[in-house]
Amino acid sequence: MMYSEKVMDHFMNPRNVGEIENPSGVGTVGNPKCGDIMKIYLDIEGDVIKDVKFKTFGCGAAVATSSMATELVKGKTIKEAMKITNKAVMEALDGLPPVKVHCSVLAEEALQAALWDYAQKNGIEIEGLNPPKEDHDHHHDISEDNE
Ligand code: FES
Repeated sequence: MMYSEKVMDHFMNPRNVGEIENPSGVGTVGNPKCGDIMKIYLDIEGDVIKDVKFKTFGCGAAVATSSMATELVKGKTIKEAMKITNKAVMEALDGLPPVKVHCSVLAEEALQAALWDYAQKNGIEIEGLNPPKEDHDHHHDISEDNE
């Protein structure tokens, strides 16, 4: 399995590791198949993501994708952050091996879950944002282990 230099860099020197005290929103997601867990904290002012931190208990690709995802959303508006999909994160990392794509999905979901938490806390609606989990399950690779 080959990892890009960027993946290795973000795995060895992850950016924005840690947590935010009194965050505007927190998202925690896990992949039941591999057992990896990712948590993203957002500090939102107005509609700008002022700060973002993460904690990932998972594989190297999960660490690298959460690191890159935090870098991509920092300083962005909520609207811009909504467009940061796992695909965008993978592209920014110069790709991931196919068996590691689900790790980047975790990063996208953690970010969206944190935005959802923020919206819930503030009683606002973020256009295009879906509640975490259930409804449509796009974890095609973990479906047999769900619940
Ligand atoms: S193997 Fe579980 S997130 Fe990568």
